[in-house]
Amino acid sequence: MNEWLRLFPPSASNWGPVVDRIFLALTALATVLTLGIGAFILFYAVRYRAGSSAARPREPSTRLGIELTWTLIPLGIALALFAWAAHGYAAMQTPPADAYVVRVVGKQWMWKAEHPGGQLELDELHVPVGRPTRLVLQSQDVIHSFYVPAFRAKQDILPGRYTQLWFEATRPGRYHLFCAEYCGTGHSHMRGSVIALRPAEFEEWLSPEAPNAAPVPGMPGTTRAGLVTEGAALFQALGCNACHAPGAAVLAPRLDGLYGSEVRLANDATVVADEEYLRESILYPNAKITAGYPAPSLMPAYAGQIDADELWRLVELVKAIRHGWQDLEDG
Ligand code: CUA
Repeated sequence: MNEWLRLFPPSASNWGPVVDRIFLALTALATVLTLGIGAFILFYAVRYRAGSSAARPREPSTRLGIELTWTLIPLGIALALFAWAAHGYAAMQTPPADAYVVRVVGKQWMWKAEHPGGQLELDELHVPVGRPTRLVLQSQDVIHSFYVPAFRAKQDILPGRYTQLWFEATRPGRYHLFCAEYCGTGHSHMRGSVIALRPAEFEEWLSPEAPNAAPVPGMPGTTRAGLVTEGAALFQALGCNACHAPGAAVLAPRLDGLYGSEVRLANDATVVADEEYLRESILYPNAKITAGYPAPSLMPAYAGQIDADELWRLVELVKAIRHGWQDLEDG
């Protein structure tokens, strides 16, 4: 549709039609209103100009029919637009559970991406076509915003928390990636590319033999061992296993099956154990105490003890044992 209209950049994700339709509808509505109101202004300005002979009888001060019409019709239109947009927004906020997860780090002024297998990229992000991709977005300094116009996808990246964004690329190609939040002098240089590859090409790109997935200078952990393997090593090195390994004698919440589950807290609230929950619980164990466990937590806080790369590996480890520790041996 937008090939002939040329109003938008090419559409290359599942969000393209969703966002474009509502944008077109809003534009059409604004056009109709502007032209309609403009026409009435012109018409009455001419008709009731000074000195015209048009009749000016005294009108009744209220007319219920007219007032109901101009109140209820716009109200209906506004509510319909709200429902339409909310439907799309809810879909954007509900990533599929089986999505391919890539960690994306924004920093002044570049983009870093890390795949589950350990592949690293700088100012580029390779994603598969026809498979949902979910990005867990992290900032190394200030607020950035991950924006791919061709995907109609944009999400702020905030320091001190994980945010996420999901999409499904629908068309192979190379697309612009921008930072859409002013983040300092180099903001306009904070650009990159998202490269959507057909599934077979993507698998090939991921494979250890691929020459284009060389380690990025300046980033630790550039071995291709896979983040879960590195997470398991950290789990031992940091002593997490003393309390959290299966069969440990110390009272600590179970980690297997934790990711994605609902956790009841000591204050009776319930939270879903997503990546952000895991991040917070590792860095600040007292932030959310699981129901039935002592407060303050027996676990030391790891804020300042581990860096963002190590934290992500621990999160990936916990995600990998979502069905139990035997998942690790299988995988
Ligand atoms: Cu990063 Cu603007």
